[in-house]
Amino acid sequence: MIETAELDKILDRYGRDPANVISILQDIQAEANWLPEDELRYVCTELDIPLSKMMALATFYKAFSLEPRGKHIVSVCLGTACHVRGAERIAGAVERELGIKGGETDADLQWTLETVGCLGACALGPIVVVDDEYHGQMTSVKATRLLEKIKKAEGNGAG
Ligand code: FES
Repeated sequence: MIETAELDKILDRYGRDPANVISILQDIQAEANWLPEDELRYVCTELDIPLSKMMALATFYKAFSLEPRGKHIVSVCLGTACHVRGAERIAGAVERELGIKGGETDADLQWTLETVGCLGACALGPIVVVDDEYHGQMTSVKATRLLEKIKKAEGNGAG
């Protein structure tokens, strides 16, 4: 959740101009990793925009999420080429490591796990993407280690 003072800062940054609503949404998403409804309602009130229009915008642009998203996005490719090289096992290992299933976000909003179709890098498969960074020739062990490393770097190994 974003504090009202922080929301005001974002609105002020863009002159509280409804023409800048996309930039405002981008900043909210950057801050919260998704677009919480309470925050959207506040922005609508401040900019005098109907909530329906705001929701239509937020739904139209794929970069925006109206569902809670973690700070880190992990995508495991389950396309055919990755699948035949053991992607399902990797997905299972990632699920165990993060304690969430594909399509879920953890309660602390640290991790979102997605399973995706072919990412167009089959030769490097199996592929796991963490925060837009592609990791090729993954195994369950490598994927687990990678996630452990990120957790450790952030001091949230318990989570
Ligand atoms: S099937 Fe995974 S990158 Fe193509």
